[in-house]
Amino acid sequence: MLVSAKEMLQKAKAGHYAVGQFNINNLEWTKAVLLTAEELKSPVILGVSEGAGKYMTGFKTVTAMVKAMIEELNITVPVALHLDHGTYDGCYKCIEAGFSSIMFDGSHYPIEENVDKTKELVKVCAEKGISLEAEVGSIGGEEDGVIGAGECADPGECKLIADLGVDMLAAGIGNIHGKYPANWAGLSFETLDAIQKLTGEMPLVLHGGTGIPEDMIKKAIDLGVSKINVNTECQLTFAEATRKYIESGKDQQGKGYDPRKLLAPGTDAIKATVKEKIELFGSAGKA
Ligand code: 13P
Repeated sequence: MLVSAKEMLQKAKAGHYAVGQFNINNLEWTKAVLLTAEELKSPVILGVSEGAGKYMTGFKTVTAMVKAMIEELNITVPVALHLDHGTYDGCYKCIEAGFSSIMFDGSHYPIEENVDKTKELVKVCAEKGISLEAEVGSIGGEEDGVIGAGECADPGECKLIADLGVDMLAAGIGNIHGKYPANWAGLSFETLDAIQKLTGEMPLVLHGGTGIPEDMIKKAIDLGVSKINVNTECQLTFAEATRKYIESGKDQQGKGYDPRKLLAPGTDAIKATVKEKIELFGSAGKA
């Protein structure tokens, strides 16, 4: 069943673990994430960027596919379908399309405008039982055209946005979308700690989950992170497994060119990555 992310994240915060958000791109991605979450009895969040939504022909297609897949695959764990880095218009499109959770990324607006727009969406989402994520500071790097400078969030501004009644808060703490550069300074635990102290029970979201060392992930969870987003790592493992399949000539043996065979190693690689992350985040068995 599609559910809001509110309850699963409150439980995660209280239980000191994090729920993974895995971004989806197509049927194989969605199937791989859902089956792995079910196998591990873990709640899960399917992230959809606006670009991925467009690629899958629109948010309504995505909702219909995910709902049908949950039913046909007998998925019993809580699943949230979540807009990732939504624009103001994108949020309304996803609400209309039946998403159970949205992120409004107002971090590029002046704080007053971020507050106003977030406040409006808090009201709309609460009426519909949809969970809402807001962002303060910015996540560095680029994801699907969303580019951030990567400045750390101001803890006071985080409190301002958290107090509006959002269900989860993404705060820039030196995290970056995509691969981390060799000279990356690491997460700013000082900032995270200050935000956590001011925002209390608010589940915090760590974007840019790809490539963050395990000890930093664990420390971030200790300091109040309850949702961790992973996108690039599934893309990398999918690409690597697909490349190996083709380079070894398997697509030219028998009916190895059949898309169901061609995409199988990549799909299995996504499953393995999702499994590894769910185990690291501590959400296995928490459904
Ligand atoms: P990565 O692509 O770095 O894993 O980040 C994912 C993310 O934060 C989605 O919003």
